[in-house]
Amino acid sequence: MKKIFVIFTAVVSAIGATILINGCVASKLVAKKTGSQLWGENCIRCHNAPSPADYSSAQWETIGMHMKLRANLTEDETNKIVAFLKGTN
Ligand code: HEC
Repeated sequence: MKKIFVIFTAVVSAIGATILINGCVASKLVAKKTGSQLWGENCIRCHNAPSPADYSSAQWETIGMHMKLRANLTEDETNKIVAFLKGTN
């Protein structure tokens, strides 16, 4: 019985470590992504990705807040996407 518990603990620790390591890798990858990359990956998930020329800078601010909620984006991701969309106006 004791042996099973030791194995169980080892497996749980291994899974925990894997999640921790992968978590760090994933957040580094997101931090490296540019606004245009994040736009291309996220804004086509539910509808055609709108082009930067479609709306004014002021409109992009509001749309950013709206789509941040819809797409479940972080503050950082939203800021990068909005900066990209406004940049080409
Ligand atoms: C989870 C699905 C989803 C994702 C991902 C998504 N949208 Fe949307 N989007 C919607 C829906 C649904 C609407 C229709 C309006 C509503 O009911 O929210 C919409 C509407 C819009 C509109 C019309 C104006 C408005 O605010 O209603 C624009 C522009 C837009 N999205 C831009 C974007 C951009 C830019 C991204 C990437 C950051 C994005 N969307 C990502 C679901 C999504």
